[in-house]
Amino acid sequence: MIKTVRDFDVKNKKVLVRCDFNVPLNKGSIEDDFRIKQTVSTIKYLIKNKAKVILMSHLGSPKGIEKNLRMDPIQKKLGQYLKQDVLKTSDCIGKEVEKAISKNQVVLLENLRFHKEEEENDAKFGKELAGLADIYINDAFGVSHRKHASVVGVPKHIPSGAGLLLEKEVKILSKVLEKPWRPLVAIIGGVKASSKIKVIKQLQKTADYLLIGGKIANTILIVKGVIVGRSWPSEDAVKEIKRLDITPANLYMPLDNLISPDESGKTYIRESVPARAGKDEFVFDIGPETIKLFSKIIKQAKMIVWAGPMGLFENPLFEKGTREIAEKIVRNYKAYKIVGGGDTIFAVSKFGLRDKFDHVSTGGGAMLDFLCGEKLPGLKALENET
Ligand code: 3PG
Repeated sequence: MIKTVRDFDVKNKKVLVRCDFNVPLNKGSIEDDFRIKQTVSTIKYLIKNKAKVILMSHLGSPKGIEKNLRMDPIQKKLGQYLKQDVLKTSDCIGKEVEKAISKNQVVLLENLRFHKEEEENDAKFGKELAGLADIYINDAFGVSHRKHASVVGVPKHIPSGAGLLLEKEVKILSKVLEKPWRPLVAIIGGVKASSKIKVIKQLQKTADYLLIGGKIANTILIVKGVIVGRSWPSEDAVKEIKRLDITPANLYMPLDNLISPDESGKTYIRESVPARAGKDEFVFDIGPETIKLFSKIIKQAKMIVWAGPMGLFENPLFEKGTREIAEKIVRNYKAYKIVGGGDTIFAVSKFGLRDKFDHVSTGGGAMLDFLCGEKLPGLKALENET
């Protein structure tokens, strides 16, 4: 059993909250504050119940201290949402931090990953973080698949539980795993072969229809020798793909695609039916026949879960596949619609469709691992709370 923030008497207690404020930045400005906004309910709950709130997160993947990955833009955004001052410290541990906590109600710690000990899950670092507070709350679903000190180390030392966002994510995604409305249509796209192959294997078993597009589809088709094309994946991915069975009747791969000889996808497009590409060509989107097939299946769904774009949607020449699939999903009014993953959320936001989904998960890799039926380390750590 995992406790939630509501199970604790937080009045006058120091509560350390692991958030996922890992948001996209552009020249120092936040491009999309969705993840910050989603954590506000837990923070407001704690403020209302008179806790002292200590917020911590990583931002990007810094190598040591990187000025452009300081938490200042997050501090500013939080101040706007909470309508109160949020003090930001210049480190995440140490005397300055302790002093700031004693004098302020809401404190934001500096980027956890400025210390390599965070990702190494260093025991001493975890203990030092835990030493700042009386209670630990994990509200960072998006990072709960990582065995990092702030995720799995801290809860070893102080009473711990889940925040309201983490609780909501687990509740909704458990439904997909345990009791989906059927037909369940899962759509997997995007780039990262390593994280996608295992979720494809799992969804072959649980989904009624599994639609695969995006770069992962091309990678699979290249390794299976169906199309030629460029970008041979890493040897690990090749091994995994060779073992992947793409013959099950519930699995649908692209029938056609849009290709270009130009690696940047800027100059030239050719449509290819069936899905083919020459050895010097790159596949950048699914083609019209695939859109038609996927749309027909999406229309029948009662539950849809989508992670990963269908193509290079950032380029208007190759956005059609992702846009049309997004439109078809939101037009299925009877289905419960879930979307997750940074790029996919960015795509549906770009098309103005984000609000039309029933649940937008803050997790990318975490959502995929969860859907594989894996117990996320961050959740497991809360079960062992003291
Ligand atoms: C994410 O963006 O998916 C989470 O914040 C985890 O970030 P990471 O992949 O850099 O660990």
